[in-house]
Amino acid sequence: MMVLILGIETSCDETSAAVVRDGQEILSNVVASQIEIHRRYGGVVPEIASRHHMENIGPVVEEALQRAGVHFQDLHGIAVTHGPGLVGALLVGVSYAKAAAFALQKPLMAVHHLLGHIYAAFLSHRRLPLPAVALIVSGGHTELVYMEDHGKLEILGSTRDDAAGEAFDKVARVLGLPYPGGPELELLAQGGDPEAIKFPRAWLEEGSLDFSFSGLKTAVINHLRQAAARGEHVNRADVAASFQEAVVDVLVGKSIEAARRKKARSLLLVGGVAANRRLRSRMEEEARKIGLPLFSPPLNLCTDNAAMIACAGYYKYLRKEFASWDLNAYPSLPLA
Ligand code: KG4
Ligand code: ZN
Repeated sequence: MMVLILGIETSCDETSAAVVRDGQEILSNVVASQIEIHRRYGGVVPEIASRHHMENIGPVVEEALQRAGVHFQDLHGIAVTHGPGLVGALLVGVSYAKAAAFALQKPLMAVHHLLGHIYAAFLSHRRLPLPAVALIVSGGHTELVYMEDHGKLEILGSTRDDAAGEAFDKVARVLGLPYPGGPELELLAQGGDPEAIKFPRAWLEEGSLDFSFSGLKTAVINHLRQAAARGEHVNRADVAASFQEAVVDVLVGKSIEAARRKKARSLLLVGGVAANRRLRSRMEEEARKIGLPLFSPPLNLCTDNAAMIACAGYYKYLRKEFASWDLNAYPSLPLA
């Protein structure tokens, strides 16, 4: 049977709608980004994000349906991100999805934003061997998740302070790069030496799969301050490359250790920071060494989009895991 799911994602600053067939074939994936609007504030302003989601949601859904060549009536269900994220932003997507699903009398699937990021990997590789270990690295999260099967998740480790993407964005800002800093910092790092400065790696207690990036951020700030106080010239590319290397070392080291410990049959690298080429190539290299297949979505599916939400919703649809009409938005929804 052919299953068409409409996905809706409005958890942060992207209004997105997508139509996905059978949890795999992306018929459309429309992403209206507000980056240009928030850039002048150096970050996402929640109130402004909500307002733009309100303006965008109708046209974005209509465009997604149009590009997919389907009508509302053709859909089998609607999947929506209900958390975590900015509550006002989430509410726009949740309210729209509830209203549409109720009017159509079609099933509604509530999708955790991070589950969506994991399912981005299933969009490109449906026959992904399970159990898997997934590293989810985004602007708001850094989590190592064990996925025994669809619907069976266990958190192995999380960040204790900043998320990896947040660390990239904050360090980028002190290096004078525009928001969002992650991609800009990666670009700057390409011209630098990753061994130039020995920044700390927070491995934490023996055996811990948690992360911590705030000490590293402080080390970068201190390095820049001390150089300025001494009147020394700072090679910003070296700082960017050395910082990136410190983040990548820990992310890769702990992911490989988690996969080894859980005897995973595949490793998934997902979330906005998974767009980082240095992270991708180092993860690939280390996974290859232990014969572990690595799956990472193409760059446009790493960052926030509704196709990944539709894909996660498809698996919930198959399990008849439907949300009720009183579904709410949860800004700090736990994953497992
Ligand atoms: O998953 P995402 O689109 O949104 C959240 O759910 O947070 O992730 C956005 C984050 C931002 O912090 C951004 O700076 C970071 O991902 N990012 C990157 C790169 N591209 C995006 N960080 C490092 N290198 C990149 N190439
Ligand atoms: Zn995200």
